[in-house]
Amino acid sequence: MFPRKMHRVLSFAIKINRRNLNTTPTFLQKTKRPSYKEFEPLTRSGGTKCETALYTEAVELPVYPDLTIGFLGHGKMYQALAGGFLKANLIKPENLLASYINQEEDEIQEEDCVKINSNEEVVRQAQVVIIAVKPHVVESVIDQILPYVEEEHLIISVAAGWKTENLQSKFSPDTKVVCVAPNTPSLVGCGASVCSFGENVTDDDKVLVEKLFTTVGMFSTMPDKQLDIVTGLSGSGPAYAFIAMEALSDGAVRMGMPRDIATKLSAQMLMGAAKMVLETGKHPGELKDAVCSPGGTTIAAVHSLERNGFRATLMDAVEASTNKAKQLGAENGSSEKSN
Ligand SMILES: NC(=O)c1ccc[n+]([C@@H]2O[C@H](COP(=O)([O-])OP(=O)(O)OC[C@H]3O[C@@H](n4cnc5c(N)ncnc54)[C@H](OP(=O)(O)O)[C@@H]3O)[C@@H](O)[C@H]2O)c1
Repeated sequence: MFPRKMHRVLSFAIKINRRNLNTTPTFLQKTKRPSYKEFEPLTRSGGTKCETALYTEAVELPVYPDLTIGFLGHGKMYQALAGGFLKANLIKPENLLASYINQEEDEIQEEDCVKINSNEEVVRQAQVVIIAVKPHVVESVIDQILPYVEEEHLIISVAAGWKTENLQSKFSPDTKVVCVAPNTPSLVGCGASVCSFGENVTDDDKVLVEKLFTTVGMFSTMPDKQLDIVTGLSGSGPAYAFIAMEALSDGAVRMGMPRDIATKLSAQMLMGAAKMVLETGKHPGELKDAVCSPGGTTIAAVHSLERNGFRATLMDAVEASTNKAKQLGAENGSSEKSN
């Protein structure tokens, strides 16, 4: 029997403080869209970095009380990023806009943003526009919004395969464009986002983008040509980790452990291992060696993993996702140079 105390400790460890998102927002009728540069953040979103996000309450006041962010697309990536922004109290729910193109108003269940049945209207009202539709839909969405994009807009694409070079080519040469490769753990403040800035993006814009994405996890910048590899590693990576968690808990269930405890244990174990790498700065191989005592249980398991091609399987997974992102990029006009 698994000790009750341990069960309580594990349950607490993965508990995420959910903010009540049942606020019904007021539809904003703005006559003039102010530039976000007019607004200084009220306070930093302290404690929402990856290391502590799971245990930290959202800050009391919105970090950017007047910043309006518009999402084009309201799928999984919208939920992860917008949910993360709201949980961290980065912006007000009434300043979060999302286009709901293919749904009737009464089909929409969520109450956490202003829903607008038009991409153009979202762009008209937002200062920062996040394109979060499937990669092959991006171009048609850009065609729709192009007449409404002004110089002060900051256009951020999270679509796999898209680079700043081909994104810029779809807009006016003055438009400020950013490509980000994020991931879904942004929802719990533990995302990993890598961004490439277009050449018109100012220092203020860069600070804002960094604030947005550090609010939902780790943030880094890289040149365009690295973005597909980021997609292959941290963009698709949560799926690899979820499969690993499920398989590990299957193993424990097979050995006789109850499923709920097995799932929590495998999740906590992966989170703990990840924190050790990030916090100690030690090479994962060194940390692995520390778990393997001579002739012990872990080295027996490691031998089994090596015999079954565990490393090569993971390396192949990163390669497959990277190549798919490259292919998507090529289909959307990304040049060899940016790939
Ligand atoms: N999911 C991830 O883990 C992840 C990670 C990194 C990057 N990304 C990138 O994020 C982007 C979005 O992925 P996702 O997983 O969020 O996809 P998703 O769940 O399928 O969401 C796509 C959204 O776009 C909407 N949409 C479709 N056509 C539209 C149009 N013409 N105008 C406005 N909205 C439209 C869809 O609405 P309906 O459902 O009503 O059609 C849906 O809400 C992709 O480009 C992907 O490469 C995703």
